[in-house]
Amino acid sequence: MRDTVLITGCSSGTGRVAARKFLDDGWTVYATARDRDELTALDERGAHTARLDVTSEDDVERVVERVVDEQGQLDCLVNNAGFGQMGPVEDVPLEKVTAQYDVNVFGPHRTIRAALPQMRAQGSGTIINVTSLTDRFPMAGTGSYSGSKSALTSASQALRQEVRGKGIDVVIVEPTVVATEFYDRVREELVDVDHGAAYTDLYEILELLHTVKSGGPGITTPEAVAETIRVAADSDDPRRRYSVGSSAKAGVAIAALLPESMRTPVMRAGVEVAGSCPGKRVLQWWFSRNHDVN
Ligand SMILES: NC(=O)c1ccc[n+]([C@@H]2O[C@H](COP(=O)([O-])OP(=O)(O)OC[C@H]3O[C@@H](n4cnc5c(N)ncnc54)[C@H](OP(=O)(O)O)[C@@H]3O)[C@@H](O)[C@H]2O)c1
Repeated sequence: MRDTVLITGCSSGTGRVAARKFLDDGWTVYATARDRDELTALDERGAHTARLDVTSEDDVERVVERVVDEQGQLDCLVNNAGFGQMGPVEDVPLEKVTAQYDVNVFGPHRTIRAALPQMRAQGSGTIINVTSLTDRFPMAGTGSYSGSKSALTSASQALRQEVRGKGIDVVIVEPTVVATEFYDRVREELVDVDHGAAYTDLYEILELLHTVKSGGPGITTPEAVAETIRVAADSDDPRRRYSVGSSAKAGVAIAALLPESMRTPVMRAGVEVAGSCPGKRVLQWWFSRNHDVN
């Protein structure tokens, strides 16, 4: 029997491309989204589709039960659904932070809890959590988002230890900036944040963030992230973490090799020699704040 994968957030971006890649690779694919109408094209390509809002425990349980009933197995769970709540910590109200964590942290928690009994029973499975490079490089204006991705990273690391010896792998895929619709929602979610006068320059930078949507040097593609997910899912011995995108790999190497005091100056110099690229002003501004490189 072919392997079965369940993917969240397939209405656009990485999730949609990942579903296509798994289908092309012969997997049985359960592609899910909040709005099932967004999945018509994947349906036509042979995916099983379902409405799944990761904030709904009922949705999660219903879909996982359906996969197990129909296939008798669940070999890979891809927690891809997510969005970015940006804004200075002082301005973002708690309800919006809660909504951010409900999707980016509690969502994967729900799906993992629903999937694990089947994976443990079959003695195999791979859980792939899409985090973000921001969990290593938190930057001004990304507190809610990078906090949520750090939480998912930590939970993934703990889970990996818990399921060791049960045939289950837990993988973190951490992309750098990806050219997707993600940045449309970043903009939308900022509209009803009360823009405090103390952070005018930061709001200008956050608005500029939208320019990375068109791609360019240092920006990766949903195809690259989706291919990494597929490779990790196919591997008998996947790595614990996959960084995606040249700037992610460079950042991770710098963090691993250089002492803390040298990391920001080296990254700042790298941005200067990178030539003109979308988001360059954003990075210059961020590095001028001497942000932490973990
Ligand atoms: N783009 C980047 O620069 C970047 C960088 C690093 C990591 N990531 C991460 O990569 C993942 C995929 O993002 P992307 O770049 O492909 O952006 P995207 O095109 O906006 O895709 C995000 C997906 O998540 C879904 N989603 C949001 N809230 C949901 C909910 N409550 N329940 C179910 N699905 C929900 C969206 O569905 P709707 O259409 O229903 O909203 C959409 O399908 C996210 O976890 C994101 O944080 C993105």
